[in-house]
Amino acid sequence: VGTPVAEDKFSFGLWTVGWRANDPFGEATRPELDAVEAVHRLAELGAWGVTFHDDDLIPFGSDEGERDKRIQRFRTALDETGLVVPMATTNLFTHPVFKDGGLTNNDRDIRRFALRKVMRNMDLAAELGATTYVLWGGREGSETDAAKDVRAAMDRYREGIDTLAQYVLDQGYDLRLALEPKPNEPRGDILLPTIGHALAFISTLEHHELVGVNPEVGHEQMAGLNFVHGIGQALWQGKLFHIDLNGQHGPRYDQDLVFGHGDVLSAFFLVDLLEHGGYDGPRHFDYKPPRTEDMEGVWASAAACMRSYLLLRERAKAFRADPRVIEALDASRVPELSKPTLGEGESPADLLADRTAFEDFDAEAAGRRGYAYAQLSQLAFDHLVGAA
Ligand code: GCO
Ligand code: MN
Ligand code: MN
Ligand code: MN
Repeated sequence: VGTPVAEDKFSFGLWTVGWRANDPFGEATRPELDAVEAVHRLAELGAWGVTFHDDDLIPFGSDEGERDKRIQRFRTALDETGLVVPMATTNLFTHPVFKDGGLTNNDRDIRRFALRKVMRNMDLAAELGATTYVLWGGREGSETDAAKDVRAAMDRYREGIDTLAQYVLDQGYDLRLALEPKPNEPRGDILLPTIGHALAFISTLEHHELVGVNPEVGHEQMAGLNFVHGIGQALWQGKLFHIDLNGQHGPRYDQDLVFGHGDVLSAFFLVDLLEHGGYDGPRHFDYKPPRTEDMEGVWASAAACMRSYLLLRERAKAFRADPRVIEALDASRVPELSKPTLGEGESPADLLADRTAFEDFDAEAAGRRGYAYAQLSQLAFDHLVGAA
């Protein structure tokens, strides 16, 4: 499939390849990765963009001098490589101050501090040319329902996001906000656990037009949901502002596997949807190079994410172009779903007057007819495994 090019719009979080592989049971297995080196290595592999949390770039508590120095080094690396910063985000989860969350912390002072931390990094994001600002509320939630008044928490969540959107407007930034749902981990239960919850929440916002979602493959699958359906609905609502690609094996801890290395059939249909469904944003990988890997393995895993995507894209293209598939889609009446159920200008009264719709409709005959999804589904499988 060749090597990735800028037009593929592949991007990586600094925290992905930079993850030192410390987990709840073991210490780090890899050395610290300098942001400048990460930028150069990602560019060499064919990535187009790099993303970051404020603290990935500038350690929490750094003084102004240190901060400026680190931003300058990062900027130079971007200039040298041509890598862009399509998105940035805030770390509202590592420092103990955020152990009960940021925007929905029970402590009002901490909520105010959290807002300031986001605003500060929004300034940097805008300066570096980012157009999406992700908010993943990993610590917004609880371990006991006694601890969180969910209705009050939703009030504060809405207030927080409205305040940040207002800040974007006041500053004239070309930024849109993208909320990232996740059902649990690190909190026992996280607020806005799924794409559906997030979309419903967004509809209540004052500046709802500025806010969309950044769904992650594994997060929806942790909740037992169909990621392709979730992305389909987000696209349909014009809310797919960004996406986190990775791999996951069903409902269990957040695995963050290489893209495609989980539910591969779902990954195939996901790429098919992204490529043919009108999404033109970044293909952002939010995965973790396995703890077993040394730095060579880290770069191999980053290359693997992009290669998986390109392979699936090639297969999806061939699937769509195959005359047998087009025929099978027709046999399954897939194109017919795009036809409105009522005729043009047809009213409920007109429908009532149409005897063919009910009185003369042969439900028994229609009920006997098969949909031929078995054949269609296997054609997709054959394409996926290269047997078509
Ligand atoms: C996770 C999340 C994070 C976010 C990141 C950007 O489960 O850890 O996916 O990786 O994507 O914090 O906001
Ligand atoms: Mn994840
Ligand atoms: Mn993510
Ligand atoms: Mn993640």
